[in-house]
Amino acid sequence: MSSFWHWWIIVLTLANIAAMVWLIKFAEKRKPGEPAAHETTGHVYDDDLTEYNKPMPRWWLWLFYGTIIFSLAYLVLFPGLGNYQGVLGWSSAAYDLDVDDVEARSMYGREVERIEERLAPIFRRYAEKDFEALAFDDDAMATGRRLFGNECAICHGADGGGTRGFPNISDGVFSWGGEPDQIIHTITNGRRGVMPPHLSRLEGEEEKIDGLISYVFQLAGREVPNEDLIPVGAEQFVQLGCAACHGEEGTGNPMLGAPDLTAGDYTYGASAAAIRETILHGRQGQMPAFEERLGPERVRVLAAYVYRLNREGGIE
Ligand code: HEC
Ligand code: HEC
Repeated sequence: MSSFWHWWIIVLTLANIAAMVWLIKFAEKRKPGEPAAHETTGHVYDDDLTEYNKPMPRWWLWLFYGTIIFSLAYLVLFPGLGNYQGVLGWSSAAYDLDVDDVEARSMYGREVERIEERLAPIFRRYAEKDFEALAFDDDAMATGRRLFGNECAICHGADGGGTRGFPNISDGVFSWGGEPDQIIHTITNGRRGVMPPHLSRLEGEEEKIDGLISYVFQLAGREVPNEDLIPVGAEQFVQLGCAACHGEEGTGNPMLGAPDLTAGDYTYGASAAAIRETILHGRQGQMPAFEERLGPERVRVLAAYVYRLNREGGIE
């Protein structure tokens, strides 16, 4: 902060507090407790209503002075006056792990460190647990739910049900695999699904496009918009390389994150229009990596939480 703004803030803040003190002194007029004469303010309402000029109640004045003393004490202890750091040296600045000197870390950083120290044994206990057992440990799953709410719900929904563009991760269908190691890998490193666009090879070929859409519908066992075109679609499915990624039977490939098209569980929409858009323009879903942000122990708890969401009964 430049020294102009430094002083600007100090002067404004202190002038405001001084103005409060002046205001209260000005309004006080008479010392509380002094016998009030039946003096009126001189205002008359509705012809005959007058107002006594009584002093403000003592408790109210004390409250007011209290807030002023509090604000001054606060400004001495904490940052608030321009560049002045406050006697406690509190700072919300990010926690810098590379700084060896604990004193040099921010106060906020030290608070985080204290919490981490308290949680460390709990997470160590979770880390030693077998994955299956972890998924059925109520305490661990309560922690998992909190982590999921903070880190994952924004994209996958509070219940893991997903929304357009963000997969449902509670229905037992996984593009990248639902085994513990696969889920841990997904959360640790993130995933990038690449469904290539096919516009250049299908432009103007309405029959082939409708055929592919019909074939995709049929794969999921849905009612097909155009039965006659299924053979055309089946041929295109192989020719265009759909089968290479989604599999001959359309059951998907977890190595590529190519979804199982027989599951009928669409991330990008089930309508013919949505599938047309997917085929012609492609899709690129990006699941972010959480390794750095959360560390392996929290990731494992979250993986167990996701695993459990997909187990019979889920988590109540
Ligand atoms: C290079 C591999 C690859 C090829 C080739 C490919 N896909 Fe895909 N497809 C994917 C991947 C990966 C996704 C998931 C994209 C994502 O997660 O964002 C996907 C997604 C889809 C979806 C959307 C599913 C949903 O959840 O909404 C459909 C439908 C689909 N592909 C059909 C096809 C068809 C039809 C073809 C052939 C014209 C084809 N794909 C070719 C890899 C491929
Ligand atoms: C910024 C949005 C976003 C956040 C935050 C996010 N995800 Fe994802 N996640 C995605 C997207 C998009 C995909 C699909 C990637 C693809 O297209 O293949 C995905 C995929 C996944 C998958 C794989 C699903 C499958 O079909 O195999 C799992 C498991 C998952 N996320 C769990 C989590 C967990 C646990 C968290 C919280 C730590 C989380 N995600 C946070 C966007 C997000």
